[in-house]
Amino acid sequence: MSAPKTFPDGFLWGSATAAYQVEGAAWEDGRGACIWDTYARTPGRVHEGHNGDVACDHYHRYADDVALMQKLNLGAYRFSTSWARVMPDGRTVNRAGLDFYSRLTDELLSRDVVPWLTLYHWDLPQALEDAGGWPSRDTAYRFVDYAAAVQSALGDRINFWTTLNEPWCSAFLGYGSGRHAPGRTDGADALRAAHHLMLGHGLAVQDLRSRDSSLTLGLTLNFADVTPADPQEPGDLDAARRIDGLSNRYFAEPLFHGAYAPDILEDVRELWPADLVVDGDLEVISTPTDVLGVNYYSGNTVRGVGPDEAHAAADQARADGPASDSVGSEHVEFLALDVERTGMGWEVRPQGLTQLLVRLDRDYTGPAGTALYVTENGAAYDDVPDQDGFVQDDERLRYVREHLGAVHDAIEQGVEVKGYFLWSLLDNFEWAFGYDKRFGIVRVDYDTLQRIPKASARWYAEVAGSHQVE
Ligand code: NOJ
Repeated sequence: MSAPKTFPDGFLWGSATAAYQVEGAAWEDGRGACIWDTYARTPGRVHEGHNGDVACDHYHRYADDVALMQKLNLGAYRFSTSWARVMPDGRTVNRAGLDFYSRLTDELLSRDVVPWLTLYHWDLPQALEDAGGWPSRDTAYRFVDYAAAVQSALGDRINFWTTLNEPWCSAFLGYGSGRHAPGRTDGADALRAAHHLMLGHGLAVQDLRSRDSSLTLGLTLNFADVTPADPQEPGDLDAARRIDGLSNRYFAEPLFHGAYAPDILEDVRELWPADLVVDGDLEVISTPTDVLGVNYYSGNTVRGVGPDEAHAAADQARADGPASDSVGSEHVEFLALDVERTGMGWEVRPQGLTQLLVRLDRDYTGPAGTALYVTENGAAYDDVPDQDGFVQDDERLRYVREHLGAVHDAIEQGVEVKGYFLWSLLDNFEWAFGYDKRFGIVRVDYDTLQRIPKASARWYAEVAGSHQVE
């Protein structure tokens, strides 16, 4: 048996959720409609018409959930605030909405769980979508007002602030492929949305910083491990470059280098709106941050193909990574290799996480002095509960163990990774897959809403308590 891997002092062990996926109470205390309410009610969009009306009922059960976190030795909780709860019409503050997050924050602090707040995890107020959504530049300015409202209510108690979660998904799945809310399918709008999300991020960082210079600010991007089918084949190498560009470098380049990468601009040239970037935008977008959050789950092997083949090719599409129907992925086939996969069909690729962290540190965060945190990692599997609802989820446990090993390897190679948030604390609403896919280390019985820790939760509690992975 190999020696246990010990993590550095101060390493933050946490779990993560997001408002629409766990809160429920969708129509209580003045919350307005968000784009996921609308999308989920549109026939054919979400598995069996599921929606977030009740979800895990975290809105009412938050105190028990926080007690459970403490029992599981979790040092931090990454959650998101619902813009439509805080501002039902996207503009006007709803005190009762903010009060919920204030109660949640107090509960976390009373149980020594560090609150880590994400301002935007995909649930745009429907009123703002009706006014144009993220393709409209105005939404970036509305986002700053929202960030300021949340900061003025919670900034005295919360240190860690993430502006956006996975803007790639908001832009490219929301406005490009339509697989996510609001379900629009216009490539140019996806690019507009991406730019305005980043502009909103940069403006919000500047505004929050000016309100309180002691806050720890950052954003979270999703990354994938992209490899060419044949590294000797120029077409495959170019397909890998293209998909790596669209998934991994699209946001990182402007954020850390203050410019869109020329090769990516070339890939999306036909869609690029000429008037999109206004003078000064890239300076705003590249405002220095304290943290880069890394969400990592999987990767793809890609092959360069002719135009007719691409869309007919087998496609193991990922919900949070590029698929053959997404912007800029023309001429790319995603190979359906016979390798180990999670219940989402996503390839299990722990070494990809080590390589990614080393690369991010080298190319982006190291030179900028920005800290790395894994803000999401975890897996869905087809859980089989016993008669008491207990799940012996050995596959999930192994997935997390291997990925934590990969984080440790990166740390040993000199990368400063300061924390890990397991996705997810609870089984929850997995977007277009509804409640069909379970990512939790705690089972949620959706009939009774009872929480039942799985084997992976017991194991993770030991890891978090000992700072060691056996
Ligand atoms: C990333 C997203 O941030 C989260 O909301 C989602 O549930 C997980 N990936 C799993 O797909």
